[in-house]
Order: sequence, then C-alpha cells, then structure tokens
Amino acid sequence: MIVVFGSINIDLVFHANKLPSEGETVLTDAFTTVPGGKGANQAVAAARACAPGAGPVMMAGCIGQDAFADLALAELRKAEVDLRMVAPVQRPTGCAAITVDRHGHNQITVASGANLEALHSLVQPDLLRQGTLVVLQNEVGGGENLALARKAAAQGASVILNAAPARPILPEEWAGLLSVLVVNEAEARDIAGAAGREALVSLARSLRATVVATLGAQGALAVSPDCSGHQVSALALEHVVDTTGAGDTFVGALAAAVEEGLPLSDALRFASVAAGLACTRAGAQTSVPSRAEILARLHDLAPAQSV
Ligand code: RIB
Ligand code: NA
Repeated sequence: MIVVFGSINIDLVFHANKLPSEGETVLTDAFTTVPGGKGANQAVAAARACAPGAGPVMMAGCIGQDAFADLALAELRKAEVDLRMVAPVQRPTGCAAITVDRHGHNQITVASGANLEALHSLVQPDLLRQGTLVVLQNEVGGGENLALARKAAAQGASVILNAAPARPILPEEWAGLLSVLVVNEAEARDIAGAAGREALVSLARSLRATVVATLGAQGALAVSPDCSGHQVSALALEHVVDTTGAGDTFVGALAAAVEEGLPLSDALRFASVAAGLACTRAGAQTSVPSRAEILARLHDLAPAQSV
C-alpha cells in the first residue's frame, strides 16, 4: 500500500511565449485550470504506474470548501486513489499560478491555503506498518512530515521524502527515518551544498538513506550510504511541451516500482521514463502516463549504469 501525505492544489496554467521578468506583463490566451499539487500529482502518478493487483494508493491531505475543491480531486478519483483521508477545512483549496513558456519551462507560485491544515494525524495510525510506503513532499508543514516519518519508521513502514520545494533538512532529525530522499539539482544544492556525487553520498550517509537526484535531461543518479550508485539517462524527447509535474511523476512512479519490489536500478529507469513522458503533455496530473505507456518506452532507455 502507498500512502501519499501532501498537497492538493488547483493549477491555473498560463501557456505563454516567454516567462515574465520582474515588472513585466506577458499576454496569452492559452489558459487552463487543472488539478495539481505535488502530493496529489504523486498519488496519481503512483496509481497509474502501479502493477496490476498492487495494494491501494491512498491520499491524505486537505482541501477547502470552495469552487476549486471538487476539480482538485477529479484526477485522483479517475485514478482510483482512495480519498478517505482527505479532509475539507475552512481555508481555501491550495492554488498554484503557473506560467509555462514555449520551451516547456515553468514558473510556479503556490498559495498553500488548506494544505497548511494537513496534520499527520490524518493518516490512520494502523496503516503505518510493514509493507506500507509513505510518500512525503514539502508543500505541507515541515513538522507534520517529520512527525509522520517518525511514526511510520517506528511502526515499520518505509518513507520516501521528495524535498520539493527545498527546505533545510537537519540530518540528525531525519537520520534513520527515510528509505529514499528524492531531490532535483537545485534542491540538492540547497540541502547538500552541491549536486555532485560526493555531496550526495555524504548526505546519504548522514541520513542513512538512498539519495536520488533527478537531473532533468541528464536523467537521474542514486547513491546509497555504502557509496554504491546507479545512473540512468532520460528519455530523448523531440519536443518538450510542459515539464510541470515531471518531478512528481518521477516520485510517484518510483514509489510504485519500489512497492512492486523492483531493484533500485530498475525502479530508477521506470521512473525516468515516466517523468520523460510527463514532459510531452500539458499540465501536471493531466500529463502523468499510464503503466502501459511507461512499459512501452522502457526499451528506449539504456540499462542503469553502476557509478
Ligand atoms: O510540482 C508541480 C506542482 O507544484 C504543481 O501541480 C503545483 O500545484 C505545485 O504544487
Ligand atoms: Na507535464
């Protein structure tokens, strides 16, 4: 079973020729309103990627009681994510303003709203047990993530933390709580001081966890506390439409692959293909590939290299 604790947003997406610079107004008529939020994106990605017969994917988080709430849950419902741990609260549904340029690059501002009411106690304690994989990101209160990770680890569940957006990690607080930490290059620099192998290994050692760095078009690198590592490439893409949700798709697909029992090197490859496919379509959840789509492109990626 996969339990995703995290944010649920509505994304207001503006497709423009270029990203606005400070003080600049950019005009476009391409606008969509779609479900987003790193937590919800990862839950949808895990549900679409998981093997037939896998346990449920459950979402825990908060939404408002406003016009956005229903749409925010639409793709989660379609993907058959269990929503019994999603609670309506008094604050507005989380909302992200996203501008995407013609190269597929984005700029995101999030009004967290209801997500800041998400308490770790939303997760039913008896679900935190061996065989459960808990997936966390940084769009809810940091204290809640840490408290949930502590409970999960104490009760034998595994935890993946995607440190996005970046927030400092005190290794002494998180040591021994995580099985995997996932960061992109910028987050790696913020947290480990650098994104190179050496910095990642030293972070892995202090956390006693595998650290996975996603490197965009360069693929992904995973290092473990014992210094072993794997590198996978990224899908070669002819045209990047929208990178929004690619990192979340990576994390969700990685969780599904780990849950399935794939070795780390294969799980990385699976996640890398999924993330690549998510760049070829607009939106976050609307761009998450199905398991069949991922499997169909797996052979396009060389096997993981030991590094
Ligand atoms: O990672 C992409 C997500 O970040 C978007 O869906 C947006 O809601 C923000 O949370
Ligand atoms: Na996308």
